[in-house]
Amino acid sequence: IRVKEVLNSQREDYLNKTITICGWTRTIRYGGKGAFSFLEINDGSCFKNLQVVIDKSINNFDQLKSEGVGTSFKITGTLVESPKKGQKYELSLRNNEDHSFKILGSSPQGEYPLAKKRHTLEYLRGIQHLRPRTNTIGAVTRIRNSICKATHDFFQDRGFLYIHTPIITSSDCEGAGELFHVKTQQEESENSENFFKDQVFLTVSGQLDVENYACSLSDVYTFGPTFRAENSHTKRHLSEFWMIEPELAFSDLNDCINCAEDYLKHNIEHVLVKNMEDLEFCNQWVKKGIIDDLNNILQQDFERIPYTDAISELASQSKNKFEVYPEWGIDLSTEHEKFLCEINQKPVIVYDYPKQIKPFYMRQNDDGKTVAAMDVLVPGVGELIGGSQREERYEVLKNNIEQNGISPEEYWWYLDLRKYGSVPHSGFGAGLERLVMTISGIDNIRDSIPFPRWPGNAKY
Ligand code: 4AD
Ligand code: MG
Repeated sequence: IRVKEVLNSQREDYLNKTITICGWTRTIRYGGKGAFSFLEINDGSCFKNLQVVIDKSINNFDQLKSEGVGTSFKITGTLVESPKKGQKYELSLRNNEDHSFKILGSSPQGEYPLAKKRHTLEYLRGIQHLRPRTNTIGAVTRIRNSICKATHDFFQDRGFLYIHTPIITSSDCEGAGELFHVKTQQEESENSENFFKDQVFLTVSGQLDVENYACSLSDVYTFGPTFRAENSHTKRHLSEFWMIEPELAFSDLNDCINCAEDYLKHNIEHVLVKNMEDLEFCNQWVKKGIIDDLNNILQQDFERIPYTDAISELASQSKNKFEVYPEWGIDLSTEHEKFLCEINQKPVIVYDYPKQIKPFYMRQNDDGKTVAAMDVLVPGVGELIGGSQREERYEVLKNNIEQNGISPEEYWWYLDLRKYGSVPHSGFGAGLERLVMTISGIDNIRDSIPFPRWPGNAKY
């Protein structure tokens, strides 16, 4: 039985019953020959531990003497009401032939890297294989899992089909040149012909591929790993991250914005229901006030402002307020995004960005200067979601491709979608790790994913 089930059982299902649990010791106190030993066992199902009290009459009692924090156990005992304050139950092992414990894997005293109670997240990044045994990484991991479930529920319930888009690709969706090249070992050493004939990369986004399916099967989404060779060492960038990318057929930018707002709120609602204990832990130890922040996001309509107005608002601040002066035409930087969220005290959706700072596939607005793009900015994180209405007019798209210095032949298949039964469509990409940051309050993106990759770091 998982510890969570034991501790949360409302109907006292397990009280005075003999149960078996497995897990790792968080604390262990050997009582000596004449007394009890106390163990706190955690199995990762929740951040709480189950206290185990072992009587000296248990025949292998003395084995406990040399065990430290981190030892794994299989324990069978009777669940009883605990006399101790702050815990309802404890597992008791007494003179009873059903009761026993088995040491599955011993953890030598004084060597275990997590023996101390509190460690910095930076220290934990150096022990990626053991950090899931900590409360913080445990809580964040369970919240991440819930977001994945909520994501599939959200789109599946609305009739979106889940499409698996390729990891190996020959197109650079974002046109930012932040590609990891894929080569075989042989190619690398002998300069021989490319395995795929073409030069191929790890995908930066599944969007262009998923658009094919939206233009055949209507609403679809892809959800998978994406890769960017961006040399960013910030708290918000990874080289490998997961992206949720819905593509809405027969839709415009406004439909896309509405979907993004609903999607974010749905995730928050789900986690508030499923992971309240983890959130309470985060509220106390990870980010003070995170639960209020989440409820605040749920209770309001997001602010929606055109890029041009956002720039005017930023420019009306004192001259030296920002490192980069907010001039029309710039891409908003983190400081601008954070400021916009702060003054509005809620998520802000900025839309209709200048054409020249956005990729070729975005739909041109009638003003000739802007495109139907949108970013969802959230307090504390900045850009969480980026999306757009896609250019569905053949000639305009072909022109855009050329203006971006790309040869239209390379995108013949993408142009074909506009040649044969083109439809207005739109979509967005939400970074899973930034979503985890938003909902758990974790400050550094490297702690939001089990095995973070950033420049200079892809090993244990
Ligand atoms: O704004 P981006 O680059 O948009 C696209 O890739 C579109 N093709 C998506 C689409 O319309 N289908 O990335 C989308 C989101 C960002 O808002 C951010 O949350 C996340 O992906 N993201 C990153 N997350 C972590 N590390 C990085 N280096 C990221 N780059 C983008
Ligand atoms: Mg973006």
